[in-house]
Amino acid sequence: MNRRVAFITGAGRGIGREIAKTLALKSMNIVVSDVNIDNAKETVAMLQENGVEAIAVYCDVTKLESVQVAVATALETFERIDILVNNAGWDKIEPFLKSEPRTWKTIIDINLMGQVHTCKEILPLMIQNGYGKVINIASDSGRVGSSGEAVYSAAKGGVIAFTKTLAREMARHKLNINCIAPGPADTPLFQEIGSYNEGIAAALEKAIPFRRLAQPQDIANAVAYFASDEAEYVTGQTLSVNGGLTMM
Ligand SMILES: NC(=O)c1ccc[n+]([C@@H]2O[C@H](COP(=O)([O-])OP(=O)(O)OC[C@H]3O[C@@H](n4cnc5c(N)ncnc54)[C@H](O)[C@@H]3O)[C@@H](O)[C@H]2O)c1
Repeated sequence: MNRRVAFITGAGRGIGREIAKTLALKSMNIVVSDVNIDNAKETVAMLQENGVEAIAVYCDVTKLESVQVAVATALETFERIDILVNNAGWDKIEPFLKSEPRTWKTIIDINLMGQVHTCKEILPLMIQNGYGKVINIASDSGRVGSSGEAVYSAAKGGVIAFTKTLAREMARHKLNINCIAPGPADTPLFQEIGSYNEGIAAALEKAIPFRRLAQPQDIANAVAYFASDEAEYVTGQTLSVNGGLTMM
C-alpha cells in the first residue's frame, strides 16, 4: 500500500512534533521541516525509532525560496505530498502600543506569509495528484482577540480567512483545506511566553472549563481528523481546540 506523505512545518518541537508522531501512527511518511534543523533531526530520530519513514528538511517558511528547496527535497525522497500541515508559528506577548515594527513584521512573516508560501508551492502538486489535504494552525486569538497579541491575532485571523478562500478555490479539485484554532497549549513557545507573564498558566487554567491547558496531543488529534478520509466532506472550517475557553 502506498503510504500518504505529510509535510509538516515547525515540526522540530511542540505541537508540530506531536503532529508528526500522531500522523506517523496513522501510517504516513513524514517530512519534518523546521528552521531549526537540529530539532527537526531529533523529531526524525524519534519517529525512526518506531520504524517510521521520515526525513528532516531545513525550511524557513518566511522565505519562498527556502520553501521551494524544502519541497524539492521532500519530493526527491517521497515523490509526492498528500498532507500539508502549516504549523510553524511564533509570538511575542506585549501591549500593542509598546510593540515595534520589526516584531510585527516577524510575526506576520512567520504566522501568515509562511502559510501562503507553502500553499503556493504544494497546492499545485496536490491538484496534479488529484488528492490533498491542508491543515492550517491558527489560534483562538484569531477568532476572539487576545490582549498582548494584537498583531499575532491579526495574522491568525488572516490564516482563518486564507483557509476559507483556499477551500472555495480548491473545492473544484476536491482538496480539503481546514484550520485548527488552538487555545493556550503547554509547549516550549507557551513556556517562553509564560516566563515573562508570571502566573498566566494558573490564571488560564482557572478560566478554561476543562481546567487545564491543551496538550500538544489534543491539537495533533484534531489534525489527524482533518487529515483522515473521515473528513472528506469537511472543508473551509475552523475547529477550536481549547477545553471550552471560547465557544463559537
Ligand atoms: N502554544 C500555544 O499556546 C498555542 C496557542 C495557539 C496557537 N498556537 C500555534 O500552534 C503552532 C505551534 O506552536 P507551538 O506552541 O508548538 O510553538 P513552538 O515554538 O514550541 O514550536 C514552533 C516551531 O516552529 C518553528 N518555526 C519558527 N519559525 C519558523 C520559520 N520561520 N520557519 C519554519 N519553522 C519555524 C520553531 O523552530 C518551532 O520548532 C503555532 O502556529 C502557534 O502559533 C500555539
